[in-house]
Amino acid sequence: MKSNQYQLTSLGLLCLICVTTLAACRQDMHDQPKYEPYEVSSFFDDKRTARNPVEGTIARGNLRADDHLYTGKVNGELATTFPFEVTREVLERGQERFGIYCAPCHSSIGDGNGMIAQRGGSSMKQPATYHSQQMRDMPVGHFFDVMTNGFGSMYSYSERISVRDRWAIAAYIRVLQMSQNASIEDVPAAQRQRLIMGEQ
Ligand code: HEC
Repeated sequence: MKSNQYQLTSLGLLCLICVTTLAACRQDMHDQPKYEPYEVSSFFDDKRTARNPVEGTIARGNLRADDHLYTGKVNGELATTFPFEVTREVLERGQERFGIYCAPCHSSIGDGNGMIAQRGGSSMKQPATYHSQQMRDMPVGHFFDVMTNGFGSMYSYSERISVRDRWAIAAYIRVLQMSQNASIEDVPAAQRQRLIMGEQ
């Protein structure tokens, strides 16, 4: 009985030693040499520990090296081409996004007579139609630029529409322009007869 008690006490002592050593270890980690936010530095002349990033530093994931894609410009000029292939999928995405973000003012055919324009009264500037010769001749980068930076009284959509979606909308504006300005020659020969006959 006595030796049992002794054993228990020594076990308890061992545990205590373990716990204090481990805790001390943890304390060391807390106190490792490091600067706290805004702590004074004795190393730098301006005494600030928080340094400015080296000039030209770019946050991970924020490299925007592709001017064409991100600015709609090539060598400082509005781009006349798309930065990626325009597939049917891209056009469908553009159509959907246009319907959400642009049609309320520009109308679903882009003549500038959307619901908001109709109801906005004289205080609202009527958006320009996409179907003037001037707009047809605009490089496609112009549409990307208008969405990115805004234009006159129209505000920028860069916060709401992603870069790729802005291009998809620009591509869809070309679709709209063609829809109002196409001749029978634009229809593939095989489809023309069907169109004239009004067949499905
Ligand atoms: C709240 C109404 C409104 C919405 C929504 C809107 N626009 Fe506009 N947009 C305007 C108005 C108004 C103008 C004319 C601005 C001016 O001339 O000051 C305009 C002008 C334009 C122009 C003509 C620029 C030029 O060269 O004359 C383009 C292109 C255009 N918008 C594209 C878009 C696209 C693409 C969207 C959707 C992402 C969009 N807009 C959404 C109101 C709107």
